[in-house]
Amino acid sequence: MVNMEVELGALKMRTPVATASGTFGYGYEYADLIDYSKLGAVTAKGVRMEAWPGNPMPRHCEVEGGLVNAIGLQGQGVKHFLERDMFLYSRVVKDPVPVIVNIWGQSEEEYAEVAAAVSAAAHPLIGALEMNVSCPNVKAGGHTFGQDPKVLESVVAKVRAATKLPLIVKLAPNVPSIVPYIRACENGGADALSLINTIPAMVIDIERRVPVLANRSGGLSGRAIHPAAVKLVYDAHRATKLPILAMGGVYEAKDAIEFMLAGATAVAIGTATFSAPDTAAKVCDGIAAYCERHGFAAAKELTGAICES
Ligand SMILES: Cc1cc2nc3c(=O)[nH]c(=O)nc-3n(C[C@H](O)[C@H](O)[C@H](O)COP(=O)(O)O)c2cc1C
Repeated sequence: MVNMEVELGALKMRTPVATASGTFGYGYEYADLIDYSKLGAVTAKGVRMEAWPGNPMPRHCEVEGGLVNAIGLQGQGVKHFLERDMFLYSRVVKDPVPVIVNIWGQSEEEYAEVAAAVSAAAHPLIGALEMNVSCPNVKAGGHTFGQDPKVLESVVAKVRAATKLPLIVKLAPNVPSIVPYIRACENGGADALSLINTIPAMVIDIERRVPVLANRSGGLSGRAIHPAAVKLVYDAHRATKLPILAMGGVYEAKDAIEFMLAGATAVAIGTATFSAPDTAAKVCDGIAAYCERHGFAAAKELTGAICES
């Protein structure tokens, strides 16, 4: 029997497989579809203080190797999440795992407010916060929080001061080097990193000569981004001791194992869930089978176990 437990900072996971924010609802919608005993955590769709409508339709489009979406972080706000969604999660899921609450805001102060509100709820099934820093900083003219190391450090520090929950920062992939952003997270007091978020993308309908998405552009996810994500996880692991939750095009166990060998402690399944909801369970079984085949007694031994000369 392979020991599948891993620790993402202070977040204890019974397997190294989680679900990615925005692709698994609020954790309870898949209750009849997948075996939660194979999961280490679920990540909820991003929440901010108030309800937010997201972008106009159409806001997603399938492309070769993935999906381009511009949902725009639609949600009902943190109160609704804590009172309704967490209530349903605790009632509907028979074998629940910790929920990673994905948070965002339009200002540094809003991030801290959402973090404080989630902490104050002290829900026993809330295991960690994940900060989505790939959203516009309205006060600073719309640049994203995750694309300026100084701003990133400041917002991470504000959230750190507002919560004792394990704090994961989800990094943007579209930066020249990930290292200054990792330092900002370390200095700000993050416990772990997650990467990658979607990659900026655009699709054009050539017959109508218009962008397919109402928002014009969106974010690419799925198989197509996997090798780029592996490289970023590898670079990040070499630059920091913070544990890494990796996501980006995990469809099969081999994709997850690649992430772990590159340095991830755990992986999250995103777009693959839309076409095959049992992907996370299959990935978990596949990691265990790989460990047995290669003589690893515990899944955590895979982290950073790439052989290099
Ligand atoms: C429809 C959709 C909605 C998403 N919503 C969020 C979100 O609310 N917050 C967030 O941090 N990431 C969000 N993401 C990004 C995913 O969590 C993940 O980082 C990305 O899709 C890469 O993983 P994948 O290739 O396995 O999908 C979303 C992705 C998709 C496809």
